[in-house]
Amino acid sequence: MAPFRVAMIGTGAPDRGRDPSQVTQSGFSVAYRHAPCYRELADTELVACADIDPDHAAAFAEMFEIGPANVYTDHRIMLAEVRPDVVDICTPASTHADLVVDCALDGGVAAIHCEKPMATTWGDCRRMDDVCRRRGVQLTFNHQRRFATPVLTVKRLLDDGTIGALERMEIGASALFSYGTHSIDLCGLFADEAIPEWVIAQIDYRTENIYSGAHNENQAFAQWQYDTGVYGMAAMGMGAGMVDAHHRLIGTEGIIELAPGGGANALVRVNRDDTAGWEAIDGGDGGMGGLSNGYPYMIRSIEEAITALAEDRPSQLSAKHALNASELIFGAYESARRRARVDFPLTIEDNPLEAMVAAGELNPLPPEA
Ligand SMILES: NC(=O)c1ccc[n+]([C@@H]2O[C@H](COP(=O)([O-])OP(=O)(O)OC[C@H]3O[C@@H](n4cnc5c(N)ncnc54)[C@H](O)[C@@H]3O)[C@@H](O)[C@H]2O)c1
Repeated sequence: MAPFRVAMIGTGAPDRGRDPSQVTQSGFSVAYRHAPCYRELADTELVACADIDPDHAAAFAEMFEIGPANVYTDHRIMLAEVRPDVVDICTPASTHADLVVDCALDGGVAAIHCEKPMATTWGDCRRMDDVCRRRGVQLTFNHQRRFATPVLTVKRLLDDGTIGALERMEIGASALFSYGTHSIDLCGLFADEAIPEWVIAQIDYRTENIYSGAHNENQAFAQWQYDTGVYGMAAMGMGAGMVDAHHRLIGTEGIIELAPGGGANALVRVNRDDTAGWEAIDGGDGGMGGLSNGYPYMIRSIEEAITALAEDRPSQLSAKHALNASELIFGAYESARRRARVDFPLTIEDNPLEAMVAAGELNPLPPEA
């Protein structure tokens, strides 16, 4: 089989791409972490790139040996001239939906692998999924932590019945949107992709916190329930220490913690009702797979998307699963706006956090220098 021809949209800036220590929360140049995966995988070939900044596109093309004829500042022209099989989108979240729709409607692509979070409004999340489903285009999101060794270890422990039946999941992280999409997506994995039924939440947003162009609250507290009866609870920002683990999973017969205390002593530990205390479990040496670990699971995530395409099967990185996490995020913001529990399906179109900032209901001040 000829390799899938892949085109990148959103190459990132070369300085922080080549030197990840230059990364800030306004830009990671994460395309530089995706591109080597396509070169390493046998079934893919990186053939073109597009970026609205010509210097970004040219530097990326030089680094990853893309010929000058296949370097673009307009993704639509790239799609028309190159006709790639797969498009990888590494632009800021506010641009994802329009780019996905352009690729699915006019690009003739078979698959789109898009960075997280899905989009900056709930309406855009639905729109990109809807267009891709109707056009038969595979749409996946880069929640690469699903392939982190400690995460796979936790999932195996759950599936083995180590803590009995799962009753509740607790997460602690920086904010619901930018990093929270990873944590809430993992809740979906641990809950066997159960469907969220409702969420209730409160947020605080007093200091401006922009990640990749999008607002992120400073502090949030949320609880939700899946259609299986399993509960979720999120303590974000200042209160994350009350969970003091990436995930704490409570079952009928014990507790599993993923990266307790930031993973300093163990990446996974278990406390079963019939044992004397915590038992550390080998969670592998790749950490949780972030920048500080050099994103070791990026290739597993991209490989999963490409293999699902080749095998014509649903991917576990599918929009269907990403929608569950996104509905909880935007539902939590909507709950704060309504001061009430939000029952799903979520019927709003916008991003309640952004709307509340725009309306002056939340007035985050610039961070102190
Ligand atoms: N999975 C992860 O762990 C992870 C880590 C970092 C970033 N991300 C996500 O990756 C995405 C990109 O983030 P980043 O920090 O690498 O961004 P970045 O700012 O470093 O790079 C984005 C690039 O997109 C280009 N761009 C912007 N709008 C465009 C458009 N309409 N068409 C073409 N190019 C456009 C910019 O010029 C820039 O070169 C975001 O969604 C972010 O949340 C995910």
